[in-house]
Amino acid sequence: MPTVVYQLPDGSTSSVDVPVGQSVMDGSVRNNLPGIVAECGGSCSCATCHVYVNDDSSAAFGEPTLEEQDLLEFLDGVQPCSRLACQLVLTPDVDTVTVTVPSADA
Ligand code: FES
Repeated sequence: MPTVVYQLPDGSTSSVDVPVGQSVMDGSVRNNLPGIVAECGGSCSCATCHVYVNDDSSAAFGEPTLEEQDLLEFLDGVQPCSRLACQLVLTPDVDTVTVTVPSADA
């Protein structure tokens, strides 16, 4: 099962096993981790699941859709590695990925 390492806003790290077919957002919400609010429940319409995908993990996910890009465009603190965690679905090829959860004021 893929492992997602969440680098949390308070500087701590949490590693979670996330089943294939679930998203990085699912892994956070289902384990009550802080920082990923996911107001829309994963339908790519709220952008409250913003994360930074670490360089060594970016190849694990496909390119963002236009819908995701449109939402990311208007976020504060957006970086080239910014993604919406609900759109980052784990596949059988993924072993471990690492994401950084921005603080609420990022
Ligand atoms: Fe709403 Fe990701 S949970 S856009």
